[in-house]
Amino acid sequence: MELTVTLHNGNIMPKVGLGVFRVEEGQEAVNAVKHAIVSDYQSIDTAMIYKNEESVGEGIRQGLEEAGIDRSELFITSKIWLDDFGFDTALQAYEASLERLGLEYLDLYLIHWPGQDTEKFIETWKALEQLYNEGKVRNIGVSNFNIEHMETLLAQASVKPVINQVEFHPYLDQKELRNYLAEKQIVMESWSPLLNGDILTNEVINNIAEKHGKSPAQVIIRWNIENDVVVIPKSVTPNRIEENLNVFDFQLSQEDLYEIEQLNEDRRIGPDPADFTGK
Ligand SMILES: NC(=O)c1ccc[n+]([C@@H]2O[C@H](COP(=O)([O-])OP(=O)(O)OC[C@H]3O[C@@H](n4cnc5c(N)ncnc54)[C@H](OP(=O)(O)O)[C@@H]3O)[C@@H](O)[C@H]2O)c1
Repeated sequence: MELTVTLHNGNIMPKVGLGVFRVEEGQEAVNAVKHAIVSDYQSIDTAMIYKNEESVGEGIRQGLEEAGIDRSELFITSKIWLDDFGFDTALQAYEASLERLGLEYLDLYLIHWPGQDTEKFIETWKALEQLYNEGKVRNIGVSNFNIEHMETLLAQASVKPVINQVEFHPYLDQKELRNYLAEKQIVMESWSPLLNGDILTNEVINNIAEKHGKSPAQVIIRWNIENDVVVIPKSVTPNRIEENLNVFDFQLSQEDLYEIEQLNEDRRIGPDPADFTGK
């Protein structure tokens, strides 16, 4: 099985990456990112609002050196927060993220949430399009966009987003949005895939894990991959970081997939994008 997905613009993105939400700026972030890179991760997902971009950047530098690989082998994502919405402010926010990370370009820059002001997210998207057209960022996308947000954006965009990063786990299977995005050739990426760890005690998931000799986390990560969803589990624990990437040597059966599908309750742990203001 391929380790990467091809985006609609022909660029590739790793199917599994490291998420760093709630990873503390300082040694915790440096160590997690460095450990991921030396353990063969190529993708790291951060955001301005996580307030750890500087340490993520340091972890990247240390990881590259220790692994003996080049920056071009990595896929680094960050996101613009609602406070920076607007054309000029978005351009500045991008530069500020680059500076904190100590990078010359990002592989993916996302609008973190749509917010409540349609004009503002369109203006922001236009700035991202400019960054993309000027070759300053490799790919642009969105996060937490529902179908309505996507329709509004697509009606006015000249560059189609490559990704929509949304909450996705067995209790929130996002079937409608997933089908919609697939039709538009926009890849879905999941956040909180492990439900912050809470899905790992689920009995169905544990039974499937036992059958395959894998951990519950590996079953969930593999389930994302088999649903064509890019996945970025967060961990600061070295053996879990390694475990979460070790998902390419087994396959879920049709029966496993069916059992997991039955767990859906359309239940969110995060805010509903329809009414999230960022406050
Ligand atoms: N776009 C958005 O609005 C948005 C929102 C939320 C998150 N995200 C992104 O999505 C990423 C992932 O989501 P998340 O951080 O909310 O949560 P998550 O990945 O669902 O869960 C992380 C939790 O699971 C634990 N864990 C990880 N691997 C494990 C394993 N193999 N076995 C047992 N426990 C394990 C971690 O513990 P330890 O760290 O202690 O090992 C941590 O407590 C974020 O880091 C962020 O990059 C984006």
